[in-house]
Parts: sequence; structure tokens; C-alpha cells
Amino acid sequence: MVESIEYDLIICGSGLAGLRAAISAAQKNSKIKIAVVSKVQVMRSHSVSAEGGTAAVIAQDEGDSIESHIYDTVKGSDFLADQDVAERLCNEMPKQIYQLDRWGMPWSRRKDGRIDQRAFGGYSYPRATYASDKVGFYEMQTLYDTCQRYENIEYFNEWFATSIIHDGQRFLGITAIELSSGTFYTIKAKALIIATGGAGRLYSFSTYAYSSTPDGLDMAYRAGIALKDMEFVQFHPTGIMPSGILITEGARGEGGHLLNNKGERFMKKYAASKMELAPRDIVSRSIITEINEGRGFKHETGVDCMKLDLRHVGDEIIKEKLGGIREISIKFSGIDPADELLDIRPVCHYMMGGIHSDIDGATELQGVWAAGEAACNSTHGSNRLGANSTSECIVWGKITGEKAVDYIEKGTPDTPFPHHMVAAEEKRIYDGIFRGNGSVNPYEVRQELTDTMNEKSYVYRNETDLVEGLKKLRQLREQTWKHVDDKAKEYNTNFCNVMELDSMFRTAEIVLVGAINRKESRGAHARTDYPKRDDANFLHHTLAYYDPKEPIMKTHPVTITRYQPVERKY
Ligand code: FUM
Repeated sequence: MVESIEYDLIICGSGLAGLRAAISAAQKNSKIKIAVVSKVQVMRSHSVSAEGGTAAVIAQDEGDSIESHIYDTVKGSDFLADQDVAERLCNEMPKQIYQLDRWGMPWSRRKDGRIDQRAFGGYSYPRATYASDKVGFYEMQTLYDTCQRYENIEYFNEWFATSIIHDGQRFLGITAIELSSGTFYTIKAKALIIATGGAGRLYSFSTYAYSSTPDGLDMAYRAGIALKDMEFVQFHPTGIMPSGILITEGARGEGGHLLNNKGERFMKKYAASKMELAPRDIVSRSIITEINEGRGFKHETGVDCMKLDLRHVGDEIIKEKLGGIREISIKFSGIDPADELLDIRPVCHYMMGGIHSDIDGATELQGVWAAGEAACNSTHGSNRLGANSTSECIVWGKITGEKAVDYIEKGTPDTPFPHHMVAAEEKRIYDGIFRGNGSVNPYEVRQELTDTMNEKSYVYRNETDLVEGLKKLRQLREQTWKHVDDKAKEYNTNFCNVMELDSMFRTAEIVLVGAINRKESRGAHARTDYPKRDDANFLHHTLAYYDPKEPIMKTHPVTITRYQPVERKY
């Protein structure tokens, strides 16, 4: 029997965007019932791992400007950002920095008491607002604390949302499994905000939490909402070896250097004016080019890498501003960055793509919004600037929370609930996955899939690799991995893993098909066989619609307001 409960607004995901949405919805209407549904405990959401900063203009009196933030974001995006959306981000952010401050965010401060900001890649002014190098952790604590003030927010921690229930036009609810009991639920509601984060665990070398799989994206996709621009995957230049844990861009913002095996700061060849603080796509490509041309290092694991030098930054600054990455370096690679060089390599860090949404976060299904990294409202185009992600979560968390309440307050027609969809979903997951038969180990399949993504669609791509990657993915998908050996009802992590893998196959396929189709180089998508940006043929977004056989690919126009695309030079 399927248990059923009812709320007004469901927020899937309890990271920065989800919590910010919950606060704004609860503030706007204290009567509506809000359910925050998350696969993990709130403070285990991947947002807690954000390190270096949240971008905003707060020093206009000292020379910074909103206009400059907008232009940096658009140029950083390689002109694929929707410019109206980028404008909204930059205009809204300063207020949000002070709002967080009032809610208790312990921003790092200058000696004169003002909130401090550090340099980050691709910006014309230091505008990464920070709290040591634990920005996400403190922001999450601040938002979670603030959420406690509102009695109409309830938490469904460790609930795995599986599908959207709708009537073809309008959202009506979701299905979800309460992991602690294994009970399958229908949660009826009027509105949904998807804020489930990015899908970076499609790659095995990744800064993301292991829980960062595309369940939320896939739920939208299967409900008929397009996924947009999925071919644009961000590789952060400095994932520490061998784990891939993030070494914040703040390390370079505080003066860190990248060195090749000749001891050269090689960034002078690739981005002389910005050096190590060029945008991430450029720094990552420069590292791989140096490695490919024989100027890299071999890590003891046999993997190629580069060196990050923080020794000259000094003990005091490292302790005060980079304490988190020092601890990570010591614990996970046995190196104290105050004394020795760190081994780093570009690592999967962010998905520019996500659920196709408009400037208000609205999706193609009435009653469904998307916010944060799960969304693609096209703020970042083909390459996001560091520190613009936590900003995006906060801005569109707020906006979607308000929009969803407006929608609920207007009232929705009394449509018969499609129980047949719930029955079909139950069959899909219990007969198709839980009780499936198979001899192939799903954990090994997951490893092969994520290794394939690393090998075939990394920093530099080409047709042969991408096509081979897609072929391999489709072969893996045909194997008999859809089975769960652990038959326990309670906390069945084996079941979760196979469910996650199911969504990973569909999403990874879209990344590869989108990358094959985009026969140009733009932002984070660098094709060695098509090394130039091609505005005549590819200045458009990519949309992927669900079809059981393979994704249906379409295009969508880019909104250009004031900046015509020009060649990107730094
Ligand atoms: O390097 C970092 O601290 C990452 C920040 C970001 O992705 O925005």
C-alpha cells in the first residue's frame, strides 16, 4: 500500500537554494505547509562544501560596479549566458550579502570592520565575499538557523524523491521513499521547487559529495521538462591528488601560484593579464596543455598533475584564510601547503547545465520551479565564474520561493489525482529495480560509467572519444545491473545506489550527445577537432527532452541584451 501525505509546497533538496527558498516561501505566507525533502540530512547537503566565496558587488564606493560584475559574468560565460538573467543575479546579490549578515553569517572582515572580499578568477575586482574558506558551511548554518524561526517548514531528511506526478500540464505531487523505513509515499502538493544540486558524481574524479547524483534532474526530465546545456561541465583547476577534493580558488586569490616542472608560472603564456586568476575553463585547459606537452608531474599514483605553490603566502594568511584547505591537504594528501607544493589536477566541479528554467526559475511544467545548480536559467552560459554559484543559489532560492507562493495563493483547479502514475512508478522502481534480476555488479558498472566520463569527456574533447564514450555508456546500460541484492526495507543503501545509477545513465547520455552535437569550442566545452567558437552555428542553448530510446535534442535562443559576443581574451 502506498502511504499518502499532503503539503502545499515541496522543496526537493536542502542545500543553499532549497533552504533559501524555504525561508522566502515561509516569510511570504506563514499558513502554507512547506515540506523540505532531502536524500540526506540538511547539514550533509553538498552546499556545505563550498569553500572560497559568494560573488557580489559591495564596494561601489571603492571602485567596483554592478555593470562590471554583469560583464565579467557574461564574458566568463563565453557569451552563452542569458544576459537578462546575469543582470538579475548581479543586481540582487548585494542585498543578499547584507541579508545573510543580518541572519548571522560570520563574514570575514577587514581591519576597518567592513565585510572583506577576495580575488577570484575572471573578475575585474575582488568580489568573492568569504568566511575563511568555509563559506558554504557557514551559509548553510546561517540559513538552517533562520529556517528554525518558521513553524510551517517541515523536514523530510533521508527521503529519496523518485518521480513527479502531474496531469500532463500541471504538477500534482511527487513519489518518495522514506529511507529509514523503506516506505513508499505519495506527497501531494500544489507546487514544487527542485533544488537538488548538480550531478558531478557522473565523473569519478570529482569535488562533489557522493550523494551528488542526478536524481532531481532526471525526475524533471522524465516528467517532460527539458534539461538544458548539459554538455557544459566545469573542471575546477585545483582538485587535490589523489582524492579530487576541492582546493579553493581562494588559494590563488590569496596569492598561490601554479608551477610546471620547469618551475615556471606557466599561466603567463595563456592569460598574461590574469595569470592564475583567469576563468576556470582557461586555467584548466592551460594545465592540461602543459601536461600534454611534457611539462607536468607524475603523482605517486601514476596520474599526471601540476603543482600549486602556497609557501610564499605565509603561515599567518594560510591559517586565517585558508585553514580548511590546509587541513584537507594534510589529512588527504599528507602535505602542509605552508611548507610544500600541492599536487593538483582539473576536477569535475560544477554543471553549467540543468533543468531548463526561465528568469524566474519557472520550468515548462506548471507548478514546478528549479533553483541553484539543479536549474539552468542560463546565468553562467558555457562557463561559470567562481563564487557565482552560491550567489545563484541564494538569489533563485529567494525568487522561486516567492513565485511558488504566488502560484499557490492564486489557487489551483481541483484535478483528479492520477493514481495510475503512482502505480506505474511503484512498478518501475520495485519491479524494475528492487526485484530485478541480474548478475552484473551495479557498483562496478557505476565505476566504469564515471571513469568513462572522465576519460572521454574531460577538459579537452574530440569526436572519436565522445562517440566511444557514448557507445560504452550504451553497452553498460544494456548489462543486467538493475538488481538489488540487499532486500532490507530500512536504510537500504544498495537500493539507493542502483536508483542513482538509473538516473546517471540518462543524464550522462545527454552530456555526451550534447557534446557530440556541439561542434565548436565554447567555455568549458573545448573540442580539439573544432577549436574555435562558432557563433554563426552554435550561439544557442541545447535542450534535451526525454524519450525512452534516446534524448530528443533541440535548441533554444540566447538572450543578448547589451553585450554582443566578442573574442574572449584575458
Ligand atoms: O574554488 C572555490 O572555492 C569554488 C567556488 C565556486 O565553485 O564557486
